[in-house]
Amino acid sequence: ETEFSPQRLLSEEIVKTLMEVAERVRLILKDPQDSLVVLSGCGTSGRLAFFMSGFNRELQRLNYAPICSYVIAGGDRALFSSQEAPEDDPTLGALRLKKVSTIPCLRGKKRVLFIGVSCGLSAPFVAGQLDFCLRHPDVYTPVLVGFNPCVSLCRNEPLPGCTLTFRSVVTRMEELAKTQKAFLINPALGPEAISGSSRMKGGSATKILLEVVFSASFSRTPVTFKYAQWGYGRAVQKILCACGRQVCYLGWGSLGLLGLIDASECKPTFGHSELLFPQGPEFSISHDDFLDRVLPRLTDDDAVLLLYSDSDDVDEVAKLAHRVREKTSNIHGAYHQTDGGTAAQQVPCYFFLYKRELSTKLLLNAVSTGAHILKGKVFKNYMIDLQVTNSKLYRRAARLLQVRIAMVDSLKMNQHLCVSVVQVVPLALVCLLTGCSIKEAETRLEQQPIVREAVEACLKSS
Ligand code: F6P
Repeated sequence: ETEFSPQRLLSEEIVKTLMEVAERVRLILKDPQDSLVVLSGCGTSGRLAFFMSGFNRELQRLNYAPICSYVIAGGDRALFSSQEAPEDDPTLGALRLKKVSTIPCLRGKKRVLFIGVSCGLSAPFVAGQLDFCLRHPDVYTPVLVGFNPCVSLCRNEPLPGCTLTFRSVVTRMEELAKTQKAFLINPALGPEAISGSSRMKGGSATKILLEVVFSASFSRTPVTFKYAQWGYGRAVQKILCACGRQVCYLGWGSLGLLGLIDASECKPTFGHSELLFPQGPEFSISHDDFLDRVLPRLTDDDAVLLLYSDSDDVDEVAKLAHRVREKTSNIHGAYHQTDGGTAAQQVPCYFFLYKRELSTKLLLNAVSTGAHILKGKVFKNYMIDLQVTNSKLYRRAARLLQVRIAMVDSLKMNQHLCVSVVQVVPLALVCLLTGCSIKEAETRLEQQPIVREAVEACLKSS
């Protein structure tokens, strides 16, 4: 029987747990020589772990020693490009965690607060890390952040290479949470606008929760975070209406980083990378790369979104904007001003930063999702061109196609093929919805890559 969690983002129980975790962070702040916070996750969750480890910069600014480190499945390459397969490996997760706590400058930490993020409570990589912490309670205290409406719904198939399941790890954590030897932060958020797209609500909530923990580790006052609704809807509409070919993000500082994070996630989610910065063997993400490789190809059909704040070099922004304007009139800015000067001197900037970062993240998520909807990468509220590059995505794709099990079976493939076949979901979907052959579906999709239009064309001709 399924019992849905009564906990929401602001439930008393959640705020209480956040404050308990903040207290652990506060102890680490007092004893940075011997202790450490490690944040970890896969895909967007890992990118947010990395992003949040930027808390170190604020600490340094306030004359504290840095205390945060991060792990992302697939290593640093995964920060800006999709590396989905390592997400399936619990042993690798544990190894990476062990490694981060034993690199020379961090060696011998006596206390590690491990914060694992898995929005769906599903990533084997994170489960392996949590299990490692549970087996070494003398050093590690595990915290799990996720948004599965109910623990009994979290993934229960054995993790590759062992008998544990994500659910069994969570159940152990629930028991230890009673004595604060582990912490579970799992509020229900409600469904994502695009089914399974945890980069949106899930990612934003991860950011909010971790910021609350870090902010409260300074003040010990529960932060009441009532986020207003930002008037970003109109901006999104304007950008998307103007845009015919591609959207480029051109950003500065942490807002630029959010642009990279948003773009990186489009590939596995929508099977599509045109929103991505150009990417060769080396990442080409600097402004110079933009000038060399993107600007010359820009046309009036392309939209450019500038992401910056008044703490960035506004003259440089103006110069770049001028050069972009020579190529396209579709140039938009998400510009943030620092809130109130006086207060800013008294409170660490971090408290202000998160509001502007979060509003930028929401804006970017809406722009990139909207753009992919316009491109036909969403059918009903399903991502139908997701890349089938790990076991979760394989199951997601199979569920999507479950309406005709026979067809799914004929498309079942071994893991090697899973990685190399692209467009398998749109292909199967066209077959399922129209009853045409795979060959015909292939031809239709070649002529019309937008799935819903390919389906319509197929139905009309039959
Ligand atoms: O592997 C694909 C993916 O769904 C990403 O899109 C997502 O960011 C990542 O997994 C992590 O998911 P979770 O936070 O649920 O572990």
